[in-house]
Amino acid sequence: MKAIAVEPGSGDPSLIDLPRPEPGPGEALVRTLRVGVDGTDHEVIAGHHGDLPDGADRLVLGHEAVGVVDDPNGTDLEDGQIVVPTVRRPPEGPNEYFERGEPDMAPSGAYLERGIVGAHGFMAEYFTSPAEYLVPIPEDLAHLGFLVEPISITEKAIEHAVASRSAFDWDLESALVLGNGSLGLLTLAMFEKVHDVDRTYCLGRRDRPDPSIDLIEELGSTYVDSRETPVSEIPEVHEGVDLVYEATGYAKHAFETVDALAPNGVGVLLGVPEPWEFEVDGGRLHRELVLHNKALLGTVNSNRGHFEAATDTLAQLPDSFLEDLVTGVYGLESFEAAFDSGDEVIKTAVEFDTI
Ligand code: NAP
Ligand code: BGC
Ligand code: ZN
Repeated sequence: MKAIAVEPGSGDPSLIDLPRPEPGPGEALVRTLRVGVDGTDHEVIAGHHGDLPDGADRLVLGHEAVGVVDDPNGTDLEDGQIVVPTVRRPPEGPNEYFERGEPDMAPSGAYLERGIVGAHGFMAEYFTSPAEYLVPIPEDLAHLGFLVEPISITEKAIEHAVASRSAFDWDLESALVLGNGSLGLLTLAMFEKVHDVDRTYCLGRRDRPDPSIDLIEELGSTYVDSRETPVSEIPEVHEGVDLVYEATGYAKHAFETVDALAPNGVGVLLGVPEPWEFEVDGGRLHRELVLHNKALLGTVNSNRGHFEAATDTLAQLPDSFLEDLVTGVYGLESFEAAFDSGDEVIKTAVEFDTI
């Protein structure tokens, strides 16, 4: 079978031949339909994030997949069922995090991530997975099923943000998304169309005309250009917000987020930056967090419950938004295009097969 693999840090992804995997006990065989590409894939390709599987010299990419069960192999799944795989797997048999359904809370060393950390991904014509890590989705969402994983990331982020504010009377009435990449835009759509947030903003660094700015404005949100309005100055131009969602991977934003928050607000950090030393007024940051009851939290990955919530969310997002968000779906003959990153590119996927 064909697969897309990379030697991290040393080149572009290439098409390789691998034997079709055989499902082991408790595993199903899945025929891959589509696999999305995100910023993390670019970080993995560049060699900035992730690890090769033990003994391997290249990594099969892909962690945002949707497929169809080809062989349930005695599991509870049904032949022909549309499924989305979760990303994390236990390194050597289940550990406590996986046993309690919280692999997303496992520390480094207690998980592998398919297509990212120490395990091959889903960019292959077939993959196998323990059935417990395959989340069924409705057939009418199959063509967009590769968006379930990134949406699940934000389901978790919002759950944790809301939980951090649950000790008092807090409403999510305003939100700022940092980053106009695919994760930022999906999150913005969730705030606007699912969570009914009254006032939203999305930060980028692009000139008009730009398709991501068009999407931001079509969603009813306000575009903020970080070159004109740095994050820390946003409250002077607009107003502080109840929640900041950082999806730029730009390390200074982690700290500037605190200034963009209204009192009692929460900042949620998603980006995975490279090491970068710069000066921060730690005293002011500390004081700001304390005197205004602000919270700052980091979040990574997601669990099965977040995938299930994400499936419902995907069904609620407007078709017009999703059509504009997905700027390209490419077959194996032109898979390289899915890894292009120009200003016209928002979200891409590789198509391995159709239902
Ligand atoms: P992406 O496509 O690279 O998007 C990042 C966006 O941020 C880009 O559109 C970029 O603009 C913009 N940006 C970067 N620096 C900026 C600045 N200083 N001012 C304004 N805009 C800026 O990546 P993604 O897939 O959306 O993911 C976003 C981040 O979240 C990445 O760091 C990724 O690794 C991380 N992530 C984390 C998780 C998690 O579980 N924590 C899950 C998924 C992704 P330009 O395109 O114009 O450069
Ligand atoms: C993936 C997550 C993963 C994270 C860190 C993200 O792009 O969507 O599932 O945990 O990267 O590797
Ligand atoms: Zn991802």
